[in-house]
Amino acid sequence: MRTIDWVDGAVELIDQTLLPERVEVLRLRTVADLVAAVRRLAVRGAPALGVAGALGVALAAYTEPGPEAVRAAAESLRRARPTAVNLAWGVDQAAALLPEGPDAVLRRALAIRDDDVEACLSMGEYGADLLAGLTGTRPLTVMTVCNTGGLAAVERGTALGVAQTLHERGLLAEALALETRPLLQGARLTAWELARMGAPHRLVVDSAGPFLLARGHADAVLIGADRIAADGDTANKVGSYALALGARRAGVPFVVVAPETTIDMATPTGAGIEIEDRDAEEVVTLRGHRLAPEGTGALNPAFDVTPHDLITAIVTDRRVIRLDKGESLASVPPGPRRA
Ligand code: MRU
Repeated sequence: MRTIDWVDGAVELIDQTLLPERVEVLRLRTVADLVAAVRRLAVRGAPALGVAGALGVALAAYTEPGPEAVRAAAESLRRARPTAVNLAWGVDQAAALLPEGPDAVLRRALAIRDDDVEACLSMGEYGADLLAGLTGTRPLTVMTVCNTGGLAAVERGTALGVAQTLHERGLLAEALALETRPLLQGARLTAWELARMGAPHRLVVDSAGPFLLARGHADAVLIGADRIAADGDTANKVGSYALALGARRAGVPFVVVAPETTIDMATPTGAGIEIEDRDAEEVVTLRGHRLAPEGTGALNPAFDVTPHDLITAIVTDRRVIRLDKGESLASVPPGPRRA
């Protein structure tokens, strides 16, 4: 099952707001509908957003009345969520083909879709090898936050893809998934994916993560990324930074897994990464139920930034950068894909 695809002239995607109760496919025929789906997180996760951006430009090229309208639609998609660099990247990649016509734009978007599947397989191989070497433990318990599985990409994920590869190699003792308030991507999506993989897993409340690391409950932390700055600072789901601090204190490897397309060399450090602020309603309510007294305000940053000095390694589809050994994105050139 693909998270997002192009089917008979429209974008189809699994509506992730309905999981785990229902698996429903949304068929989106306009860019306005796709933008709304991105904003309400019906499709989410950096690699999936990259594919959504590219397919959305194809949709615009076929459906919007003229070049100006196409450009405006692409721009609205580009701005739908600011932190995940893949969304803007996917839009720009596809938009570059607009002068050659809608079919060329669609071909580029489909290539980005297909490339994501290969990239995730490669990250799985690089990441599983790294973890086996880093921890020396067999089998391994990994802790993760948010959802970085197939639902965050096209078919197979990034950080959760590494857990999947470990599981396929018989090396995964257990995955500990943080529930990931406020929208519960860990509880609703990651637990659902791990169950479908047949991988041993348990759910953990977000605030228990660092303490469980201190008590030796996990051999490594695996997270994804929405944007990696040139110095390795990494924006990812809020809660990642607390896990990184806990991991450093406990001496547990903290590994970021993301495709090359998530690296933003134009942003020198994490300080330059725009963090999406979401609606306070997501915090004071839970799936339609009010939690806090009427009138309670809330801060709701969707992401945080983990400084590069807390990151053991960044794993991409083309390289492993050992920040703990003084390596950097600039010093380790991309190499071959593995699969
Ligand atoms: O708000 P979300 O659900 O889009 O946040 C997603 C994450 O933070 C993921 O960890 C990140 O996009 C990497 S997905 C492979």
